Amino acid sequence: MNEHGKILIIGSGIAGMSCAVRCAELGLHVQMVSPYPSERSQSVMASGGINAVLGLPGEDDTIASHIEDTLKGGSYLGGEKAVTGLCESASDIIAWLEKIGTVFSRDSSGTVSRRAFGGQSHKRTCYCGAATGKQIVTALVMECREMEVKGLVERLTGRHFYSALIEDGKCYGALLFNQNTNTLETVYANALIMATGGQNALFGKTTGSTLCDGYAIGQLFRQGAELKNLEFIQFHPTTLETSQKKMMITEAVRGEGGRLFYELDGKRIWFMEDKYGPNGNLMTRDIVAREISAAPSQVYLDISFLDPDIIDTRLSEVRDLCAKYRNIDIKKEPIPVTPSVHFFMGGLAVHMNHETNIRNLFAIGECASMYHGANRLGGNSLLSAIHSARITAEALSECSFPDTVPDFSAYTEAQKKKLTSFTNTESNFPVSYIRDMTAEIMQKHMGIIRDDDSLNKGLEEIDYCMKISSHLKFDSSVNTYLNYSMESILILAKATLLAARARCESRGAHWRSDFPDTDPSQQYADIISYDNGAYSIRLDREHEYES
Ligand code: FUM
Repeated sequence: MNEHGKILIIGSGIAGMSCAVRCAELGLHVQMVSPYPSERSQSVMASGGINAVLGLPGEDDTIASHIEDTLKGGSYLGGEKAVTGLCESASDIIAWLEKIGTVFSRDSSGTVSRRAFGGQSHKRTCYCGAATGKQIVTALVMECREMEVKGLVERLTGRHFYSALIEDGKCYGALLFNQNTNTLETVYANALIMATGGQNALFGKTTGSTLCDGYAIGQLFRQGAELKNLEFIQFHPTTLETSQKKMMITEAVRGEGGRLFYELDGKRIWFMEDKYGPNGNLMTRDIVAREISAAPSQVYLDISFLDPDIIDTRLSEVRDLCAKYRNIDIKKEPIPVTPSVHFFMGGLAVHMNHETNIRNLFAIGECASMYHGANRLGGNSLLSAIHSARITAEALSECSFPDTVPDFSAYTEAQKKKLTSFTNTESNFPVSYIRDMTAEIMQKHMGIIRDDDSLNKGLEEIDYCMKISSHLKFDSSVNTYLNYSMESILILAKATLLAARARCESRGAHWRSDFPDTDPSQQYADIISYDNGAYSIRLDREHEYES
C-alpha cells in the first residue's frame, strides 16, 4: 500500500476498469468490486462506437466542431469547460485503447474507420464492427489482470454497494453486501469512486442491464449527495422488442444509410427525410425518438438495400440479433423499431474533477452528470466513461487523504440489524410486486412526452408505493439485495418525477406537452437534494458544479 492508501471503485464496467487501470498506472492501489464480472457489465452492450477527432492529415473535422455538436446536441446544458476537456482528450483515449489491445475497424489504408452518428457534423465515431463495448471491455479486463499481477488492482465480485461511510461531509469507504454470505462488509478507503451506471431497471424493460437500477444513486442521495438534471432521460429511437428486453438497434445502422419509414395506405412514408431533409434519419436521438413515437403506425428501419458485404463486415451483430430474436433477415426485410429508455444524462452532481459535494466521494461514467446536458450524442458515452475515469484517477494522485478514520462501528451494527429486519409479515406486497409497479409508473409518467397532470399522478402513485413498502414483506423469491434496495430506488423515482415537474419547458430529452417551447431563462442545470424525507430543488445558475 503506498502513501495514498486504497481507492475503492464500485462497478467494473468500462468506467470502473478505466479508472482502476489509470490509478494503477499512477501507482495507486485499487480495490474494484461489483456483483458480477466485467464481462456481464452493461458496457458490453455498447455497440456503435466512440467519438474522436483523430487529427489525421486531410481530416476536415475539428475538435471545435466536436465541442459544438456536443453542446448543441445537449441543448447547451452541458458544461462548456467540461465538454472541451472531453473532446480534447478523445484522440489520446483512442490511442490508449489501441495500445491496450482494442481492435478498431480500419479502412483499406489502415486508418481507424469512422462512421456517421446522429447530431454530428462529421463522421467521427470510431468503432469495432457493432461490438465496440465488448472489444473495449476485453482489452480492459486484460489490462486489469496485469495490474492485478503487479499487486496494484484487486477485483472482487459478489459484492453490491450498500451505503457509503460518511461523516461531516467526508467519505471514508463503504459498506458492501456480500451476496455469497448475505452479510455486510466494511471497507475503509481513502476515496470511494462510484461507477455503477444509470438507472435503467427503474424503468423495467429498457436497452440496458437490470443490474443498473439506480440503487447506489438513490442511496447516496439519501446520505447527502446532490443529484443533477434527473429529468433528462434518453430514449434510444430504434429498439427491437424481445421477450427479455428492448434490444438496441445501433445508430450505426442509420450511420451506414439506414432509413426510417411507416406505411400509410400501402405507401412507405420516409417521415424523417420528408421533415428534416436528406440527413433526417440522423437527427439527434431526442428528435428521432419523438418523431417515431408520433408516427401513425409501426415504424420500420430499412437497411436491406445496403451491399450485403457491408452488412456482414460492419453490422454483423445487428444482422445476428435480428435473426436470433425475431427471425428477421435484415438483408431482405425492414426492422420494426420503437424508442426505449436507454441513457441517463442526469445523475450524481460532480465537479470538474468528478468529486461530488461529499469529499472523497467521486462518480464517473453514466452515474455522474456532467457532459451531456439535455441529450447525449451517440458515441459520447464510451468517451465520457473513459475520460471521467482518467481525470478522476489523476485528481486522486494529487489528493492528500485523511490519516484518521472515524469510528463507524455503531452505524455498521445498525445497518446489520436493519438488513435482518425485512420480515414483517403484515404486508401483502412482496418487493418484486413493488419493483414492477414502480417500473410501470415510471414508463407511464416519465415517458417521451410529459405534462403536469401525468407527473402529479406519477408522484401520487410512487407515494403509494412508498407507503406500502414501509412495511415490506421479505421476498424470498428474490435475493436479499433486491429486498433492501427498494427503499432507495423509490426515493430516486420520486426525485426524478419532481425534477421533471419542476422544469416547465421543453428541452432536449425532456418534452412537456404543457410547455412545448424551450425557455432561454431555464438554461441551467437543476440540482436536487434530500434531507430526511424533504426534497429541495435549486437551479445551478452559478455553475457551481463546473469548478
Ligand atoms: O446506437 C448506438 O450504438 C448507441 C450508442 C451510444 O449510446 O453511444
